[in-house]
Amino acid sequence: MSKRKSKESSLPLGQCISRAQKILRERFCHQSNNGNRFGIESQHKHLVELLKRTVVHGEGNSALIIGPRGSGKSMLLNDALKEVGEIKQIKENVLQVHLNGLLQTNDKIALKEITRQLQLENVVGDKVFGSFAENLTFLLEALKKGDRTSSCPVLFILDEFDLFAHHKNQTLLYNLFDISQSAQTPVVVIGLSCRLDALELLEKRVKSRFSHRQIHLLNSFNFQQYLKKFEEQLLLPAGFPDVCFAEKWNSNIQALLESRTVEDVLEKHFSRSKDVRSLQMLLMLVLSRITVSHPHINAADLVEAYRLQSMDSKVSILLGLSVLEVCLIIAMKHLHDIYEGEPFNFQMVQNEFQKFIQRKVHSVYNFEKPVIMKAFEHLQQLELIKPMEGVSVRSQKEYQLMKLLLDSGQIMDALQKYPNCPTDVRQWATSSMS
Ligand SMILES: Nc1ncnc2c1ncn2[C@@H]1O[C@H](COP(=O)(O)OP(=O)(O)O)[C@@H](O)[C@H]1O
Ligand SMILES: [Mg+2]
Repeated sequence: MSKRKSKESSLPLGQCISRAQKILRERFCHQSNNGNRFGIESQHKHLVELLKRTVVHGEGNSALIIGPRGSGKSMLLNDALKEVGEIKQIKENVLQVHLNGLLQTNDKIALKEITRQLQLENVVGDKVFGSFAENLTFLLEALKKGDRTSSCPVLFILDEFDLFAHHKNQTLLYNLFDISQSAQTPVVVIGLSCRLDALELLEKRVKSRFSHRQIHLLNSFNFQQYLKKFEEQLLLPAGFPDVCFAEKWNSNIQALLESRTVEDVLEKHFSRSKDVRSLQMLLMLVLSRITVSHPHINAADLVEAYRLQSMDSKVSILLGLSVLEVCLIIAMKHLHDIYEGEPFNFQMVQNEFQKFIQRKVHSVYNFEKPVIMKAFEHLQQLELIKPMEGVSVRSQKEYQLMKLLLDSGQIMDALQKYPNCPTDVRQWATSSMS
């Protein structure tokens, strides 16, 4: 390398790639928002205002953020918290409690978690509380310093809010909303939910204490913005250690966007699901195809990633079956064709399979009945077949009526791809009448 150039640090290609992959993967997986929010500015302003009123002026408040998964609820909240946190006068003076309906599955656990997050374990000690409300009030009282005016604002953030509504008597929600309304301790309760009807889950006494502020996020961006997001997600940041590599990478990404194929794939993906998270999952697959011998993303990578992501999951299950299990599936397919979709039972499948074997001079597929039964049960465990409803379960296993949950297209598709599929088995599948 020339002396002139060595000023600009440069790394071996392998290191460049692993650095780039690390940066991008972190971007895709951690919910940190690298780029701009789009389409949700008004919601952002609304939320910041609301939080400010609590942390600066000591008002109690409550709100719900509602939107489908991946629509940016957590991002919106985190951004707003960050912005509010930068206001000078309140820097160390705000307490946050993060709860998640998937983790705190009942109010007792939730209260323990609140105690832990407020670091009040030593204050609570071995005290015995009469009621839940008493306990919660005690916790909040403990946060007040010397005089009443200087109590800390507390933010309660309830992710998967709708799950809290299933707790017994909705005690936690009732108490939180109740304090958020009473003027003593400034408390703001923010719920995040993907259920549009989350509010309807609340009992009347709980609902009446809620402020009825709702912030909706609706993934309401268009395809052009989506393309922009695509670009934004893949560009390397300015501080990348190897400037030369970063430049090449970024110009390649821009070139990608010109390609017709890329646009087609993204358009298909966009019409299937608009949320940014599924775009990130797609890009994750794209990124994993990058190697030293193939250091830049091309259109084919995207096509392949899209194919992988949109693959029929049942077909991929079929690809992992044993030959015996595949044979049983084929027998079921024939039964399905012969009896025009009527249910079948194990005995019928076995007979069909035997017929296939008897046509061979020397068969490698001679299995004992229990083995075949085991394979049959495995198919049921995988939910490729299922017992008919409303039929008595007491009938013998062999005669229980079953239904096939695959269509012949899926079966043929899987057989095409099945690794080392024996020719006679494949022929048997294609023969219309066995
Ligand atoms: N309007 C938007 N603008 C920018 N990024 C967005 C937007 N909506 C979603 N995202 C991105 O989508 C990803 C998932 O968002 P997240 O807040 O975790 O969704 P949720 O909590 O609603 O399930 C985040 O990486 C976020 O950056
Ligand atoms: Mg979230």
